[in-house]
Amino acid sequence: MIDFPTTLLQWSKLHGRTGLPWQNQKDPYKVWLSEIMLQQTQVATVKERYTEFIQVFPTVQDLARASSDQVMALWAGLGYYTRARNLHACAKMIEEQFAGRFPESSATLVTLPGIGMSTAAAIASFCFGERISILDANVKRLLARFMGIEDDVKKASVHQDLWKKAQTLVPQKAEDMPKYTQALMDFGATVCTPKNPKCSNCVYQHSCQALSQSKVSVIPYQVKKAKNKIVQSEMLFILANHQALFELRPEKGIWGGLWSLPESNWVDTTNAPKEPLLLSINDFLGLPSDLLEDPYKTAKLLAPRKHVFTHRTLYFQIRIIELIEKFDLNSNQYQWVNISDCEHLGLPTPIRQWVNDYVCPCDTT
Ligand code: ADE
Repeated sequence: MIDFPTTLLQWSKLHGRTGLPWQNQKDPYKVWLSEIMLQQTQVATVKERYTEFIQVFPTVQDLARASSDQVMALWAGLGYYTRARNLHACAKMIEEQFAGRFPESSATLVTLPGIGMSTAAAIASFCFGERISILDANVKRLLARFMGIEDDVKKASVHQDLWKKAQTLVPQKAEDMPKYTQALMDFGATVCTPKNPKCSNCVYQHSCQALSQSKVSVIPYQVKKAKNKIVQSEMLFILANHQALFELRPEKGIWGGLWSLPESNWVDTTNAPKEPLLLSINDFLGLPSDLLEDPYKTAKLLAPRKHVFTHRTLYFQIRIIELIEKFDLNSNQYQWVNISDCEHLGLPTPIRQWVNDYVCPCDTT
């Protein structure tokens, strides 16, 4: 039987990734931040954004004391905004309930907001040498192939079984854990890849069950994905006195907690031609329909813009409404923002792109 961890550690000495800004790091704040960013975002994007984040919030205390708007603005563009809200909640909890120090065991880390079992294992093994295995999608794929597991790795029972198996493979010595954890990540990302894995260069080529049974392309088992939905919406860019009206998105749901343009509901048009939606001002709940009805009818409707999410494609059309005077909205859900200050708002990526194209460089005339 091949010695799995020793082989992996030897491989990583020669072929592991180097030069990532969060590597060889024992500061749990920095490891935690990078792991959360890397959960759903590519390494190349995280590289830039991680460094920027650390510059603005060098410690967990700085993050805990920041306002929600500051955190959301800094996260804008990284997507999956629940991560940012949990990140902030977690920093506050560490400050208030753990005297500003990260807990050291994966069992306690996993009780904090936004920290799942694999992330808890990554932090505990990188920073505190806990002998606990990570089990992210890369590692599940690697283990399923190595052990020839043909079941759906997303099923809870198979997932549980993989945890147990992963745990039997961790190195004996705690001091090897940081390198082992990084090696697992690197191996899954560069050798045992989802498509075109590098089996002919693989250090496990003589012990991999999937390879010996010619099943590398069918393990891990893939459940067929449903076709992506197409949705449409309309947004309003309401201008008055060089200011524009922005709406705070509800905490739950897409772009939760970010400022955006007032928007109609999303209409599923997967099976319909992409015609403009026939909306009225009453479809923008929260806005004064009596004041806006006439300007809405005559306002300019821009061409649709497309934004692709993981499971949906959104076509949104922006209607520009220019008013002579602002109106007051007694609600924290809205704010008028000077056009020249739009760049400081935490906007969803497609809205940021539109603002950059259409409104900026900040044209205040
Ligand atoms: N993906 C998740 N964690 C990572 C890490 N520490 N390095 C590279 N990719 C990762």
